[in-house]
Amino acid sequence: MSAAAPERRILPGDIAKRKGGAPIVCLTAYTATTARLIDGHVDIALVGDSLGMVLYGFDSTLPVTLAMMIAHGAAVVRASQRALVVVDLPFGVYQGSPEAAFNAGARVMAETGCGAVKLEGGVDMAETIAFLVRRGIPVMGHVGLTPQSVNGLGGYRSRGHDETEAGAIAADAQAVAAAGAFSLVIEGVVEPLARRITGEIAIPAIGIGASPACDGQVLVTEDMLGLFSAFQPRFVKRYADLAEPFAAAVRAYAKEVRSRAFPGPEHVYSQRNKVPGA
Ligand code: KIV
Repeated sequence: MSAAAPERRILPGDIAKRKGGAPIVCLTAYTATTARLIDGHVDIALVGDSLGMVLYGFDSTLPVTLAMMIAHGAAVVRASQRALVVVDLPFGVYQGSPEAAFNAGARVMAETGCGAVKLEGGVDMAETIAFLVRRGIPVMGHVGLTPQSVNGLGGYRSRGHDETEAGAIAADAQAVAAAGAFSLVIEGVVEPLARRITGEIAIPAIGIGASPACDGQVLVTEDMLGLFSAFQPRFVKRYADLAEPFAAAVRAYAKEVRSRAFPGPEHVYSQRNKVPGA
């Protein structure tokens, strides 16, 4: 759906009602520029902690701080009017206790103006999700391949290949839904499992490397534009390859600066009043 002028911003409750309906469109946004470009085309702008890898060059999402998420979340809220803005809680700020998660979530909501937070984990995080939801913080869950647990999971491999692992992920999804999350990201799981979970849970399942049967899809914007190639999982479809036109523009600029072709007369200010003696 490409929306015209928004009547109001999309709320978590609007997303929850989309279970089994028109697919939910979600992309990441970390900056005001991206937020402006995607708002009006997406339902959810996700300020994902993937920004640690894409913007900051970390090799995982683990070093991302709450201050980073708040700064980028606030920029995305300022530059958007229609999309629901969801901000990731970064590693380490919410796993310790429900109270710690509430304090972090409350800061994110108050200091960014976002509509919801996202956190990773299933059965183990259900109590925390319920704690936040009861206190007014809408939560999007995230199960399957959860990048903040990359060390415990032993890498970024797809999940749910055997019965035991598939059962655990399905139980995680059920626990997140029962805890009151308004939607759930399912990442990097085998297709039949994602399809099964989508059919089993009462909240929208938003897939990434999951299944077309999910209630919606999410991608990292820089991945789908061909602007981030450090990590290219199978599930990334490239809708554009902007790296080459980007590099071509930089090459052209560098050449013109070196040859003094830039700036031209149209790019400099001519003097209106002649300086005496000049
Ligand atoms: O951090 C992120 O961008 C995410 C999406 C990939 C779901 O969590």
